[in-house]
Amino acid sequence: MSYDQIDDLTAEPRTQDELVAVGRATMSKNFRQAPVVFVRGEGCYVWDKNGKRYLDFVGGIAVNGLGHSHPRVVDAITRQVRQVMHVSNLYFNEPQILLSEKLSERFGDGLVYLCNSGTEATEASLKLARRYAAKVLGQPERHEFVSFESSFHGRTMGALAATGQPKYHDGFHPMVPGFQYAKYNDIESVKRLVTDKTCGVVIEPIQAEGGVIVPQPGFLAEVSQIAKERGALMLVDEVQVGIGRTGTFFAYEQENVKPDVIWLAKALGGGFPIGAMISTAEAGRGFEPGAHGSTFGGNAVACRAALAVLDVIEQDGLLDHVRRNGPWFIEQLSALKSRNPVVAGARGRGFIVAVALDKPVAQDIVTRCLDKGLLVNKLSETSLRLLPPLNTQRSHMKAALDILGEVLEDIRG
Ligand SMILES: Cc1ncc(COP(=O)(O)O)c(C=O)c1O
Repeated sequence: MSYDQIDDLTAEPRTQDELVAVGRATMSKNFRQAPVVFVRGEGCYVWDKNGKRYLDFVGGIAVNGLGHSHPRVVDAITRQVRQVMHVSNLYFNEPQILLSEKLSERFGDGLVYLCNSGTEATEASLKLARRYAAKVLGQPERHEFVSFESSFHGRTMGALAATGQPKYHDGFHPMVPGFQYAKYNDIESVKRLVTDKTCGVVIEPIQAEGGVIVPQPGFLAEVSQIAKERGALMLVDEVQVGIGRTGTFFAYEQENVKPDVIWLAKALGGGFPIGAMISTAEAGRGFEPGAHGSTFGGNAVACRAALAVLDVIEQDGLLDHVRRNGPWFIEQLSALKSRNPVVAGARGRGFIVAVALDKPVAQDIVTRCLDKGLLVNKLSETSLRLLPPLNTQRSHMKAALDILGEVLEDIRG
């Protein structure tokens, strides 16, 4: 399909600039979109309304793990749309059962709750932990959570309270009570805060939004040990770094821990919205019929898309591909430092990488890269994030490195 065909969306075709103006006038003001309208995507490229092509190393912020419109995902969705799109959770549908079976096996005898986004999966996990303590342990006073400074878990009120960054709380007080924030990579702060009132310790295996902060060796295992000793559940947010992004299917698998609850979203649907929480059978005892739910959760089309994603990751050996190429990419980005003093270094794991800058020029770099046809993401004034699809080839990485190198030169000049 040519992207021109979507002009049948409107009676009178509009230019990119006209569309941007209408978007700015009529859409809620909570995003700061660049003035481009993307109309087509294929692999790691997207095209805007003017026909300009971009190499996409934002990937929908870790959503397009297989790139844009992967043919297997398109095929799965198309078939399912024709077959049946949605039935209520009063009944089963086939894709949701098959997806739950796969995720359960991956986790190891897990119980799967399906929803539609990352923040919903966080909410489900928080609610499960509180309810497990109250109803299964018979300890309603065990209702507190320990999460981490610099964390990000979503925007709904529970997930927001779990998020340890005051800038996201601004204007939304009072927060849901019962959350305290330990320091990531500081085990003493975890020991101080986790008590017999803690029902769950909420942690990202890599702090993604908080700056691509990788845990020190053994940190997650120690956190897990403390949670266990004090009777709290270990709750691991895999929304951004799960589904292969770090080179293992779940990021926690590299950390010698067995969480009680994990949750996924973003890349799970290959571009189609879906979230999932997976718990051990024991923690899962916290939910019985009526305890929690979602109208759209477990939607047949979303689950069919996710099944295709899991198949492609396995059949195309993408975990291996990420493990082989991630360190090379991080090394190349680090090497930019020797050629350009604006770059302070690069950090990450697999295909999630942050480039640290020694001046607040991140927005300038993002804008100049966009002009030159490369999408990268500003994490903060002094850092960029790159999230290429899991199937990105070295040739694409080299192309991205070339553009980034040119932009850094321009900035220096
Ligand atoms: C670790 C983590 N958890 C939760 C979320 C929230 O996901 P969503 O935006 O789908 O609600 C995000 C989103 O960036 C995330 O990175």
